[in-house]
Amino acid sequence: MPLSDKVSGDSPIGMFDSGFGGLTVARALIDLMPHENLVYIGDTGRYPYGNKPADEVRGYAKELAWSLVREYGAKMIVVACNTAASVALDELVDELPVPVIGVIDPGARALVRVTRNNKVGVIGTVGTISSGAYVQAIRVTGAPVALTSAACPGFVEFVERDQTTGDEVMVLAERLLAPVRDAGVDALLLGCTHYPYLSRVISDVMGPGVVLVSSADETAFVVKQELETTHLIRETTDGSLGEHQFLSSGDIAWFAQLGRRLLGPELETATQWSNNKI
Ligand code: DGL
Repeated sequence: MPLSDKVSGDSPIGMFDSGFGGLTVARALIDLMPHENLVYIGDTGRYPYGNKPADEVRGYAKELAWSLVREYGAKMIVVACNTAASVALDELVDELPVPVIGVIDPGARALVRVTRNNKVGVIGTVGTISSGAYVQAIRVTGAPVALTSAACPGFVEFVERDQTTGDEVMVLAERLLAPVRDAGVDALLLGCTHYPYLSRVISDVMGPGVVLVSSADETAFVVKQELETTHLIRETTDGSLGEHQFLSSGDIAWFAQLGRRLLGPELETATQWSNNKI
């Protein structure tokens, strides 16, 4: 794949999700590579992706990725959304002129590494689980594990409205997590980038013996490795930190308010993103 000749180390890493979930990956990227510039789009105007047809999500993923390359000069695309990665990653890798990294393979590798009893679980949106992407990714690792998957419709909506604790979400979690709990897994992959914000509840339901695995850190390591391989790491002589830009296709005041609480102080303001620019 030809690497776009317009990009350099100073070009930003472009990333996207349907909303706030990808901020878990953004946090890991900023912590691991504080000098990198970053542009994040949260497609909150069209979220959730998890219950939409694969073709529709694929279309959104292409719009967002191309916008990041064309409008923001991204040197790499991080698909910080399992649902989008599960249906669009291969096509994005084929058609974009810059490297594209998803969250599914890094998460699957981390999951099979931490299990002790070889019984693992994956939870995600209806779209991600029904795509079979995790079954495939775990098969590729070659690890001798038994996988139990469960879709968790409704979890994303709780995060997007900032309701990450309380009875309502707990009752839903008890019901949706029953298959993975009953299967006796000792490692559970949070196969949706929104779910780390529900870790408390998920952990209470699964019990202390189950390790929760988030793909955020693993994905950040893969991004760093790819930047090193392609000589696109940002070099600074004065140690200056990277610039971080956050965009949303929905209500930008809400995006900035909840986003800052979830990500941290790097998210000062949010700018409107709309697909008619491309
Ligand atoms: N954070 C997303 C994922 O990883 C999106 C969920 C959604 O919009 O339904 O799948």
